[in-house]
Amino acid sequence: MPAEPIGVLGAGWVGLATAAGFADLGHRVTVRDVVPERVTALSAGEVPIHEPGLAELLERHRERLRFTLELDEALESAGIVFVCVGTPSTYSGDADLSAVWQVIDELAGCEERLVLVMKSTVPVGAGERVRRRLDDRGLENVGYVSNPEFLAEGTALANFRNPDRVVVGSFAEADGDRVEALYAPLGSPILRTDVASAEMIKLASNAALATRISFINEIANVCELVGADIEEVARGVGLDRRVGPHFLRAGIGYGGSCFPKDASALKQLAANSGYHFQLLASVIEVNELQKRRVVQKLRGQLGSLRGKTVALLGLSFKPHTNDMRESPSLVLAPRLLAEGAIVRAWDPVAGEEARQLLIGVEVAATLLEAVEGADAALIVTEWPELRKLPCSDVRDAMRTPLIVDGRNLLDPAAVRAAGFAYEAIGRPSAVVARLDEAGLRS
Ligand code: UDX
Ligand code: UDX
Repeated sequence: MPAEPIGVLGAGWVGLATAAGFADLGHRVTVRDVVPERVTALSAGEVPIHEPGLAELLERHRERLRFTLELDEALESAGIVFVCVGTPSTYSGDADLSAVWQVIDELAGCEERLVLVMKSTVPVGAGERVRRRLDDRGLENVGYVSNPEFLAEGTALANFRNPDRVVVGSFAEADGDRVEALYAPLGSPILRTDVASAEMIKLASNAALATRISFINEIANVCELVGADIEEVARGVGLDRRVGPHFLRAGIGYGGSCFPKDASALKQLAANSGYHFQLLASVIEVNELQKRRVVQKLRGQLGSLRGKTVALLGLSFKPHTNDMRESPSLVLAPRLLAEGAIVRAWDPVAGEEARQLLIGVEVAATLLEAVEGADAALIVTEWPELRKLPCSDVRDAMRTPLIVDGRNLLDPAAVRAAGFAYEAIGRPSAVVARLDEAGLRS
């Protein structure tokens, strides 16, 4: 099949990964964004997000890629256009679809049939409403397909190339066929379905993963009370093929641009439809409480945090990205400041974002600078660089050598041997090294 030209609307994480992925499959791709600086930067080969391999892939396929502010340019040669604009949460928890409607209302009539492919996460029923809006505007010649993305940040390109499944929900079979054909070279399972079910597959998939995380975090909290070790428990539970090992990593809660937003959008969608989604309400509440539990651990070791210096290590919502959207660090920093603590912070790539977002926090340029004179180092994001944290330089730089491991990244025995007190998530007291026991309190 000749590689048909493609349009992509929205040059964010999903839009750029999608554009790079299809360019890599041989398609000419025109990417449209509404932010002039973003379009200028991308046209100059500068990629405004930190996503492993993305800049290289966009560079490799420069001649197949075009970045523009003009919707017409993205539509002029493309029969298929992916919508990847932001659909952030509103205060009510509903998804804000204003960017989607803006695109729909900008569309003009076209000779050739155009297929709009929704990749942005939208509430169930949005496709139906878009269809009605297009028909009301006499744009019957514009098809609509729901093709939710399952890209995870940090592995977006690998997820594009090797998806567990590609979901294609369409009103018109032929439109679905055209989108299915685009993904055929990947050789992955393609699930053809109706638009509403495709929309729900996306929300339910993220809700299912978020539920696993809140579940394992609650198990971890019980482990602490009964002397079990969550790392052992998660391994044992995950060996059950009906459960599987993925997304059973206990920690200080999930963040990011998707799970929090999609969980609240699904809960709100259910409520709007007259159903109280109890389980999801608990998943969301457990996650908010989990972000704050480490503050009690700090108090348990240091007593009052007033005047204590705490170093937050890792600020992005997960490793290998500079994305701080809904990152636990955004909750922890003001929580600690409210306790009267002095808060320092460090992240290998999200320093710039952090300086804008973490008010009252000193964002250090280096890890050692962040822990200088600190009473505690709190691992918030499991960056691989932090595996080196329990070393003599850090111990000597800190006022009180205490590590609270919010991601169970470190080996407790190695931390203790390096002369640190240690707290983690869901680990038995034998693993915990208390300051006063180890005679480490300054
Ligand atoms: C987006 C959606 O927000 C999310 O719901 C979905 O799951 C995946 O796609 P992401 O790519 O992470 O997520 O969004 P973001 O990084 O915010 O990028 C959106 C881009 O769309 C931005 O570059 C923004 O400038 C652009 N945009 C926004 C438009 O081009 N047009 C608009 O009208 C609004
Ligand atoms: C997620 C989904 O994985 C992806 O399929 C979807 O398209 C978008 O949302 P992303 O938000 O990039 O991707 O990150 P993910 O790797 O899923 O992690 C989400 C959050 O859950 C992170 O804060 C991470 O730290 C946390 N997490 C993940 C856990 O706390 N424990 C786990 O076992 C896994």
